[in-house]
Amino acid sequence: MFWILINCFGISVCIWVYYKWTRVKRYWAEKGVPHLTPHPILGSLSFLQRENPGVWMRKIYENHKHPYLGAWWFWRPALIVNSPDIARNVLVKDFPVFRDRFLSSGKTDPIGGLNLFTTNDPLWSWIRRRLAPIFTASKLRALQNLFDTKSKELIQRINNEKDKTKINLKIVFTDFTTDIIGIASFGIASDSTLTGEGPMRTVTHGFMNFDLYRGLCWSSIFFWPELVDIFRFSFFPKSTTDYFLRIFRSIAQERANKGDDEPKDLMDALLKLRNKTIDDDEDIEVSEDVIVAQAAAFVLGGFDTSGSSLTMAIYELAFHPQIQDKLYKEIKQEVDDGTGILNVTKLAEATYLNCVIKETLRKFSPMGWLDRVAMNDYRVDENLIISAGTPVYINAIGMQYDPELFPEPERFIPERFLPENKMDIKSFTYLPFGDGPRNCIGQRFGLMTLRHAISRIILNYKLEPVPGSPLPNEIEIEKRGLFLFPGEPLHVKFLPRE
Ligand code: HEM
Repeated sequence: MFWILINCFGISVCIWVYYKWTRVKRYWAEKGVPHLTPHPILGSLSFLQRENPGVWMRKIYENHKHPYLGAWWFWRPALIVNSPDIARNVLVKDFPVFRDRFLSSGKTDPIGGLNLFTTNDPLWSWIRRRLAPIFTASKLRALQNLFDTKSKELIQRINNEKDKTKINLKIVFTDFTTDIIGIASFGIASDSTLTGEGPMRTVTHGFMNFDLYRGLCWSSIFFWPELVDIFRFSFFPKSTTDYFLRIFRSIAQERANKGDDEPKDLMDALLKLRNKTIDDDEDIEVSEDVIVAQAAAFVLGGFDTSGSSLTMAIYELAFHPQIQDKLYKEIKQEVDDGTGILNVTKLAEATYLNCVIKETLRKFSPMGWLDRVAMNDYRVDENLIISAGTPVYINAIGMQYDPELFPEPERFIPERFLPENKMDIKSFTYLPFGDGPRNCIGQRFGLMTLRHAISRIILNYKLEPVPGSPLPNEIEIEKRGLFLFPGEPLHVKFLPRE
């Protein structure tokens, strides 16, 4: 009798799973939406750990040129958007429906879950409103000295290397970006640009390590957030959270009696938010965790995105001597005034430098897909209504490689971003920093970092490819990470100019 019951139960479960699966599989077809073929367990995510999501997004754009495409994150239907018009609606026009990201870091890891990148309303709006003013051009100008000091140290580091063709670009550049963003966010001195070491660098090295466990944490945070609390997955390892809290407390104590003058760095601005309550909700207090979470998100959001972009810019330049010459001339004539200071405003106005950076970010957007979730049922167009809770992904990298939008997309052509060609770029087809109210808050900071480092390097060195190294379009992209970063060490020849 017992076995009969067990068998009946087993058969019922199998029938239920089969029935559920057939419904899941029919979901997009029933809505008349072109879709991918789902794997019975992983849905459309069978590429994870085998292919970078950015590379995958590009492929599906090339293979399915529809304005949108149905996919599944495990068994949950998700919509991939390939159309600039729908991207505009999602990111800007209908922002109230798409305020939140689908990804979530759960409740067990407050530093991971309360930061601007992962948190949702009401906390997100409150924090974003207060942090946006510290990223304005005028506030960031106060960091001129930090950018000058660190970019000079970067040159010193390259000079100190005996065999410059063995410099691992990504490692050295993330040493540099860790210093810049670490010092600006937490306000503590560090010298990983010169030494490649330091407590903050140990933390950022940890982020660059894609072992199986971290892979599971990230995949779950991005694609199945309900599992995060069940398995206590975390955005940051515990040791990192403890380190962030420790340095925050020591800096907070150091600055406790400083008075109410203008914030000097991001940490000053963050400290001002402490112990305030969120406008309409007197119960939500801006705790120490909330503050530390923002500083931690700046480090995580800033060091690898900027370090990888710098790597790819320098690598592309090594393969393009004419672009390098043009860039050198511009920086020499318009920015370098012989004082050793690369003025932030002049760098921001250097047209060709900015074209080089834009083109690098077009080809190698660290986050080639933008994540949102529909808060209500939402009409995408006259044919499709998606249900509340559906994750929506803007396929930015797909559009940025569309030959109809960016002719010869595989080629590195900074000129496409010259002011006279601006009209050729359709809006919402170029989105390396996202768009709308939830775009990258650190965009100016990231661009300042890139401008300083690229200019300093080009003023000091001619770059050439190391014989036998892969062409920029052939480099391996990190398969186990979620962002689009180089997956192999890249080197160039640094030939001193004088
Ligand atoms: C080249 C450098 C960078 C690139 C390409 C980049 C790209 C992005 C992208 C694509 C997003 C998502 C935008 C969206 O969903 O619409 C984002 C969000 C974010 N980025 Fe950046 N980023 C860079 C540098 C930085 C830096 C330096 C910081 C910190 C100072 C930073 C902090 C953040 C934060 C906190 C968010 C979440 C914003 C929110 O949800 O309100 N990023 N970034």
